[in-house]
Amino acid sequence: MCGIVGAVAQRNVSQILLEGLSRLEYRGYDSAGICTLDNGECHLIKTLGKVNKLKEAVKEEGCPGFIGIAHTRWATHGVPSTANAHPHVCDNLIMVHNGIIENFASLKEDLITKGYNFKSQTDTEVLLCLIHSLLKTSGNLMSAFRTALKEVKGSFGLALMDKNDPERLLVARCGSPLIIGLGIGENFVASDTLALLPVTRRFIYLEENELAVLTTDTIEVTDLDGHKVEKNIVESDLDAESISKGKYRHFMQKEIFEQPLSLQNTLLGRLDNDEIALETVVGINSDTFKKLDNIQIVACGTSYHAGLVGRYWFEELTHVTTNVEIASEYRYRKAVVKPNSLFITISQSGETADTLASLRIAKEQGYEHSICICNVNGSSLVRESDFTIFTKAGAEIGVASTKAFTTQLLSLLLLALIIGKQKGCVAQAQQQNIIEAIRKLPALCEEFLACDKNIQSLAEKFSGKRHCLFLGRGIMYPIALEGALKLKEISYIHAEGYAAGELKHGPIALIDKEMPVVVVAPDNALMDKLISNVEEVRARGALIYIFKSGESDIKNDSQSKIINLPDCPEVLQPILFTIPLQLLAYHCAVINGTDVDQPRNLAKSVTVE
Ligand code: F6R
Repeated sequence: MCGIVGAVAQRNVSQILLEGLSRLEYRGYDSAGICTLDNGECHLIKTLGKVNKLKEAVKEEGCPGFIGIAHTRWATHGVPSTANAHPHVCDNLIMVHNGIIENFASLKEDLITKGYNFKSQTDTEVLLCLIHSLLKTSGNLMSAFRTALKEVKGSFGLALMDKNDPERLLVARCGSPLIIGLGIGENFVASDTLALLPVTRRFIYLEENELAVLTTDTIEVTDLDGHKVEKNIVESDLDAESISKGKYRHFMQKEIFEQPLSLQNTLLGRLDNDEIALETVVGINSDTFKKLDNIQIVACGTSYHAGLVGRYWFEELTHVTTNVEIASEYRYRKAVVKPNSLFITISQSGETADTLASLRIAKEQGYEHSICICNVNGSSLVRESDFTIFTKAGAEIGVASTKAFTTQLLSLLLLALIIGKQKGCVAQAQQQNIIEAIRKLPALCEEFLACDKNIQSLAEKFSGKRHCLFLGRGIMYPIALEGALKLKEISYIHAEGYAAGELKHGPIALIDKEMPVVVVAPDNALMDKLISNVEEVRARGALIYIFKSGESDIKNDSQSKIINLPDCPEVLQPILFTIPLQLLAYHCAVINGTDVDQPRNLAKSVTVE
């Protein structure tokens, strides 16, 4: 989704801004722009498409200046075009914006009657003109900024410059993340810390309805009423190298292969012999969940699939009723919250608008506790939840979530064990067995990754296919859903995941010899049932690809191909069987020639509703 970078320094800032934009590319965008101020002159350049085009334009045209703002836009109001790309300019004011101004239409009508003409279709330009009109009346930019922000409804992260006051950068946050980076004799702003890692690792996270004024030497944070707010400076443990592809062709490929390490990191310090070290889950003590009666999990996309897997573990290991819901639905439902309920959000980015809104609603609904399973330290969900389990996957740049998903799964399993133990539902021997299995996970993950070459040749069979089904049963049903999501989002092959038993209730009508069917079939108690479902599909002429472990009656023949995978403990099957499905999606996307790391229309961090 849109990205913001801004800088005020004692050197030219265009390279800092462009590097920042490159580092935000992974979030998804359709156009980019930059504006610097130099000797009373405004250098504005905007291009459609990739940041590299903007870089070339800057090289040609030049973009000098010690203060500047830049943006990658993911269209919400108005088509992708250079006119709609940010920064937007209104007379002396220049602004970039992430988020959506919901009441822009009525504000625009009002501004038109005041004589404003609009060059773009964006809500951003409306807000900018509103600030400009208020500045004309008050003569004070800060008060015009504040008044305008009180008038708008919606969400925003903003950075604003004034040609007549080129020493100050004004920034504000409401609903869209914004981070201030502290340098020496220079300060920065961005929508994501990754953008600023080459210039600083010291950050201030703005909270909702906070504004800040940045100069080269000062940072002053206030609320919407102008009261000063004291902020903590947070040192990031990420470094600029976190976002290099290394020896890999794509970030997604690198991130798939990083999973043994990321899973190892998720476990780091969390296992203490046969126990889970509680102190690693900030704030939870040995009694926190003793009285727990209900769990509600809320998330979006891949993180939602992690939640669906989590439900099986929670109900088995904690005996607590567990529900899982898509955040964009949960937030508009009048949920009935029973006493002793726990609200869990799952999010790679920690900034997903619907998940964050659901958490805020949940806090008013009377949940006993909230826990967030998240990959980004300092993110909004982390700051607003009672407890956090960091997945510690490391920066995930590929838009399609891979290592974030498997580390979310592992974190959910650890949490299920913690709660199960506190409620007395997990016997010591059972815990010991599961922890023993978990310790083997990174090594088993390497073994599963060794199927890469096999999967690469399998992917060729999907070339030219338009549709595909993924089948699973029980805890592997969400993995089938995740396999289908991965395939469709990066290879653009239409794919759906189904619970295998549900097939005959409708979807079986789709099956013919053109429809590949991927079956997720680890060796477990539902294997026989699954084989019966596979037979139903085979009888309709489908091409079947069976990802399986252990012995079974399924045989390779002209219609079905078996992909044999290593044996692994049953509790780890959802995590490990995800890996070949990620690889399948990756290789299909490479064959189809799509933009693997930044698939069309998608954004890494969905900060608007
Ligand atoms: C798919 C994918 C998305 C995200 C979803 C939620 O590969 O990455 O479906 O899972 O947008 O994002 P987070 O986890 O950041 O809340």
